[in-house]
Amino acid sequence: MQVHNVELTISAVKPEQYPDKGYPEIALAGRSNVGKSSLINSLINRKNYARTSSQPGKTQTLNFYNIEDELYFVDVPGYGYAKVSQKEREKWGRMLETYFEKRQELKGVISLVDARHEPTKLDQQMVEFLHYYNLPLLVVGTKLDKIPKSKWNKAESTIKKTLKLTGKDRLVLFSAVTKQGKEDIWAWIEQQAQL
Ligand code: GTP
Ligand code: MG
Repeated sequence: MQVHNVELTISAVKPEQYPDKGYPEIALAGRSNVGKSSLINSLINRKNYARTSSQPGKTQTLNFYNIEDELYFVDVPGYGYAKVSQKEREKWGRMLETYFEKRQELKGVISLVDARHEPTKLDQQMVEFLHYYNLPLLVVGTKLDKIPKSKWNKAESTIKKTLKLTGKDRLVLFSAVTKQGKEDIWAWIEQQAQL
């Protein structure tokens, strides 16, 4: 998709605040600093539209980005940031559960992991959670530019194995620097959102 018009429609916490246009939604989840906002910026060809973080763990809302009045990207607050209190964490968990469990418009979830490392326990839990709700899943391994080409295959198999990806899940390695993987990610989004 060629994106010209993007608008941050709302930062929502409760279902009453979710947009009511009925456009398909694609959510992006991953630990703090993994590159969610950078991926959104790459997909919409902007340098710094979705705010890339100088304050990790700060965003605690679901940010709905209206893309061309055709779909929403939903930037999910990052998990695993140490300085967030237990209470905040529980609130975050409930907010996600509510959204992932009930939202009809949600057509797929992009789960981001850092391609340089083995996925963490929290990454594994996120994927288990998405499998549980039977949501179409694309795993994106980020920061590909930071690993040598000779290790890409290994990175891919480590992610597949650690996250116990199934035949239905997709995996794409991506770099916000070189944009490698961007077309594959868009193709998956368009398929899930039936654009
Ligand atoms: P939170 O909003 O805190 O959850 O973080 P986020 O997941 O939105 O991460 P963000 O996009 O803000 O990126 C975090 C840092 O990683 C920034 O300094 C980015 O510039 C950097 N980064 C993201 N993607 C890539 C990538 O593909 N390659 C490289 N080299 N750096 C990246
Ligand atoms: Mg972000």
